[in-house]
Amino acid sequence: MSVLVDVIAGARPNFMKIAPILHAMQARREAGGPLRWRLVHTGQHYDPRMSGEFFAQLGIPAPDVNLEVGSGTQAEQTAGVMIGYEKLLLAQRSACCLVVGDVTSTMACAITAQKLHVPVAHVEAGIRSGDWTMPEEINRLATDAVTNWFFTTSDHANTNLQRSGVGEERIFFVGNTMIDTLLANMGRLRAPDFVQQHGLQPGGYVVTTLHRPANVDSADGFGRLLRAIGDGCRGLPVVFPVHPRTAKTLRELPDFPANLLLIDPQPYLEFNWLVKHAKGVITDSGGITEETTVMGVPCLTLRDNTERPETVELGTNELIGTDPAKLGPALARLFDGQWKQGQVPPLWDGRTGERIVAILERLLA
Ligand code: UD1
Repeated sequence: MSVLVDVIAGARPNFMKIAPILHAMQARREAGGPLRWRLVHTGQHYDPRMSGEFFAQLGIPAPDVNLEVGSGTQAEQTAGVMIGYEKLLLAQRSACCLVVGDVTSTMACAITAQKLHVPVAHVEAGIRSGDWTMPEEINRLATDAVTNWFFTTSDHANTNLQRSGVGEERIFFVGNTMIDTLLANMGRLRAPDFVQQHGLQPGGYVVTTLHRPANVDSADGFGRLLRAIGDGCRGLPVVFPVHPRTAKTLRELPDFPANLLLIDPQPYLEFNWLVKHAKGVITDSGGITEETTVMGVPCLTLRDNTERPETVELGTNELIGTDPAKLGPALARLFDGQWKQGQVPPLWDGRTGERIVAILERLLA
């Protein structure tokens, strides 16, 4: 008997989350397990630097299907993914649609599958920021509203789901697949070429990533934020891999601080090498706060809220907010050596992909 599971991936942060699930499925398949996958890339991210390079570095098999939805407004992307995925399911149904994370492709495929009575498994279910101005929060709410099986990363997520009326028997606290990928690749991390060219030393530079609309869509606000980062880092180089959305606003700025080192989006192994050896990270990403927590690197989050409170309560992350004036005092604490140490949250142990596949086998076979 073989059971077909659709594994959905759309945007950069999805790729490190599906890799360990596919690897665990492959191992079980070789041992005679019943599950086989159909890997569906929606095409939400399509640049090699945002997509293809991650597949190559993380040993993710080539997608079986690419829906090629490309860029667009939230509604355009949602509609494009839904139309493409519905056609696929009508041509060949699967036994389960497995989605990860909170990107637009996640929500669009979950809704499409459930309307065709294909059960939905959501990996990283139940996390909530409470901030409805972020598209990801709407995606989380909508996805979990049509999910059958919830795979969670934290006790906060379990509690959020229980409070919304999800029965215990549908919640599986398994840990964090993004951390599976990090732990599996820790020994393979490698320095990008420019590290040597610029003479960057371990602990001698800061990494920043910014791409949230609230931080980067207005040139004025973004310019102020960059100045606060440049000044607060006391002349230390600030390595800044620039997301395509951020690049558009950067082009509108008359100038930026001299210590900013603007670079292209980095492949996985290079990016995490940079983080591992950084003095600290300044970001508005969610996933990076999990990785810095596991690597024990100080993390300053330029948001007012987080859907990952365990990275603040247990980890090395702190919410600084979006007001540039708050950044200076926080960086001063970092430079004075007063940042907290932090610990790794429960079950972030590198075995989450295996746990998910074992549970899926039980549920589907
Ligand atoms: C998406 C996710 C976000 C995630 C981020 C990581 C949603 C709602 N957001 O945001 O959660 O943190 O990915 O990168 O799903 N673009 C390119 N090349 C690409 C992809 C996009 O140039 O390969 C451009 C698009 O034309 C667009 C911008 O980048 O102007 C934003 O892309 P989009 O997929 O809409 O959302 P992200 O901001 O990347």
